[in-house]
Amino acid sequence: MNVDGTPYRTIWLAEDGWAVEIIDQTRLPHEFATQRLETLDDATRAIRDMLVRGAPLIGATAAYGMALAMRSDASDAGFANARQQLFEARPTAVNLRWALDEMELVVGALSEDERAAAVYQRAAEICDEDVAICSSIGDHGLELIRDAWEKKGQQGTVNILTHCNAGWLATVDWGTAIAPIYKAHDAGIPVHVWVDETRPRNQGANLTAWELLQHGIPHTLIVDNAGGHTMQHGMVDMCITGTDRTTRCGDVCNKIGTYLKALAASDNDIPFYVALPGPTIDWTLRDGVAEIPIEERGADEVVRMTGRTDSGEITEITLTADGVHAANFAFDVTPSRLVTGLITERGVCAASEQGLSTLYPDKA
Ligand code: MRU
Repeated sequence: MNVDGTPYRTIWLAEDGWAVEIIDQTRLPHEFATQRLETLDDATRAIRDMLVRGAPLIGATAAYGMALAMRSDASDAGFANARQQLFEARPTAVNLRWALDEMELVVGALSEDERAAAVYQRAAEICDEDVAICSSIGDHGLELIRDAWEKKGQQGTVNILTHCNAGWLATVDWGTAIAPIYKAHDAGIPVHVWVDETRPRNQGANLTAWELLQHGIPHTLIVDNAGGHTMQHGMVDMCITGTDRTTRCGDVCNKIGTYLKALAASDNDIPFYVALPGPTIDWTLRDGVAEIPIEERGADEVVRMTGRTDSGEITEITLTADGVHAANFAFDVTPSRLVTGLITERGVCAASEQGLSTLYPDKA
């Protein structure tokens, strides 16, 4: 995607061919800054402190984190230590574990001398694969938007509500939930996006709105609690969100608040789609509510907020009285019964074991 006319991915190799560069997403939307990662610790911090975030990008960063680790210690113990450190950086997005498993397959029988190059190569492949997967998700989702447009007699605009950021910033490029929206817009279908603010970290306000603005896509930022109202009043034609982990039965775990949007969509007969790449499916799990680990982050993210003052200074403020206790559940699970369909790189399927195993017979 383009930033001020320059094409960017969210992660790439530096010119020296070994360090890794990322967009520091904690600085957006007020500042576009990149960061250089040189060590395993740099990569771990980037994931843990959410300089990079979004399930596919977390996986890609972990892959390069392993490559950086192998440069300094490619022994079995070095590999195991790096794997464990990255694995613990964030618990919910399963792409992290998937990328680490991929690296385990790569190093398999290799000698220590061969490992770093092989891991770098697989990391680059993971990034390229993610771009292709997300583009394909966009193509399949585009057809759903086209159907909605035709259902409206090609009149007005297709209004799509999304939660959190599942755009190109959450992946290597294109995005998952937002990819169909980019493709629809580029195909000349008039789309408008309701962007949930997504408290507490405001990924919708800070990231999704910024990306849509860069691409010239009409959008309106709303507070998280406005979703039900907009749906009740016919202002939403469909919802599309991303997911950090999808069980083999089609339960989806995504940013906190997604479940409430799915409930409101169901109550108003509005299609609720979830877009995901294959590596976001956790084939080992069935019941998302019972089995998916939900990340709990610091209370400071709830009681404090960062913004720009009128004089242009970026500053952090406290919202609450000193001593207020806050909890910060970062994700929730939407049961498959509330999901109209899953948009994958292999097509659209029912959110069910049958639906997923039809598309992924090789994995199921
Ligand atoms: O906590 P975050 O910002 O990493 O959460 C991101 C999301 O919830 C996304 O919707 C999800 O990772 C899908 S991204 C393509």
